[in-house]
Amino acid sequence: MDVDAGERRSRVVLGVAGGIAAYKACEVLRGLTESGCDVTVVPTAAALNFVGAATWSALSGRPVATDVWQDAHRVPHVRLGQEADVIVVAPATADLLARATHGIADDLLTNVLLTARCPVILAPAMHTEMWEHPATRRNVALLRERGMLVLDPADGRLTGTDSGKGRLPQPAAIVAAALDILRRQPTDDLRGLRIAISSGGTREAWDPVRFIGNHSSGRQGVELARTALARGAHVTLVAAHMDVDPPAGVDVVRVTSAADLERAMMAIAAQSDVVVMAAAVADFRPVPESTKVKKDDSGSGVTLDLERTSDILAGLVAARTGAAPFIVGFAAETAADAAELLALGKSKLARKGCDLLVVNDVAADAVFGSPENAVVILGADGSQVALPRQAKAGISDGIWDAVAARVRG
Ligand code: CTP
Repeated sequence: MDVDAGERRSRVVLGVAGGIAAYKACEVLRGLTESGCDVTVVPTAAALNFVGAATWSALSGRPVATDVWQDAHRVPHVRLGQEADVIVVAPATADLLARATHGIADDLLTNVLLTARCPVILAPAMHTEMWEHPATRRNVALLRERGMLVLDPADGRLTGTDSGKGRLPQPAAIVAAALDILRRQPTDDLRGLRIAISSGGTREAWDPVRFIGNHSSGRQGVELARTALARGAHVTLVAAHMDVDPPAGVDVVRVTSAADLERAMMAIAAQSDVVVMAAAVADFRPVPESTKVKKDDSGSGVTLDLERTSDILAGLVAARTGAAPFIVGFAAETAADAAELLALGKSKLARKGCDLLVVNDVAADAVFGSPENAVVILGADGSQVALPRQAKAGISDGIWDAVAARVRG
């Protein structure tokens, strides 16, 4: 299927770093050109040791950009990055990932990555030890946090007789990831919609000093807000406690407790087309003390009486008239396996009565505070879409795809 960016063919930069998997990038190049993309290949000097410029140029049908100083009058290090619709780096070596993380621009490819304003896909390939090294893990986490799509390497035979995690992902999967992004952008399928998103974790006061809170960082809600804004929506973010800043361009309403959040959401929902409850809301709150609870000399502890808070999501569903607003809930579950996760999600969807429920497994550090997540989106219509582990921005786009398909018919 051809992909085009409006009236013109999509422009792809294919960066190739210096690893043995460079030969597989020829297949990635083929897949992209056969899908109707104009591809400019930018190999690093090391990559040219594996596959020469003549091969890249013959397969792409275009000159190969290898050097910042070549055609300097056309300023290729700026132009290529600015004009690309998507950049794919395959293979992305440990060295390339490190340079990209730290903004080092010592060759044409890393210059292009710094000037890019388009989506970037990095397809790593390296030895298992390098992939597992804390430096690489940290680099990958940072790149993902910044919104780059870093694919997971495949398991299998490596350069020599050894095998393990670190093989370049299948070329077809790399091409599919690029085409997916090209088909999606630019999109304004949420234009004109008023969307309210709750985010972060509520804090329930016990006394003037202490509160009960939770681990929510607000990252998923913030990414939902950012991506909805990019797709044309008017966004109000109802922010409980968050570790991250709200994106520029959204209206922000700050709240602290579940009761504050309930009041804010009820008021905003009445004027919204879509409501997303991404906040982690306390289910119980202490009966607050007006003065600080003091310890005495006996060494005895205290017993905290907790009362139930309202279920805001269920309240929003009960309060709506007709089909508006469209309501999306989240489900934070700890499950033994995927089947149990799904069963818990389905029963929560039935209990809450919302239109979509985004189910995630919050065991260990997999979700709270993490830049990534993996979810299953359950629809009241019986639909079920799994989004594999990826940056929360990608998860957000998947959620908006599901919302747009239903709200826009
Ligand atoms: N939620 C809410 N009000 C609450 C608790 C949760 O609106 N008092 C919303 C959350 O924002 C989320 C959904 O309900 O969209 C599910 O939250 P979750 O914590 O997964 O489930 P609970 O409803 O708290 O149920 P349980 O603790 O039994 O799993």
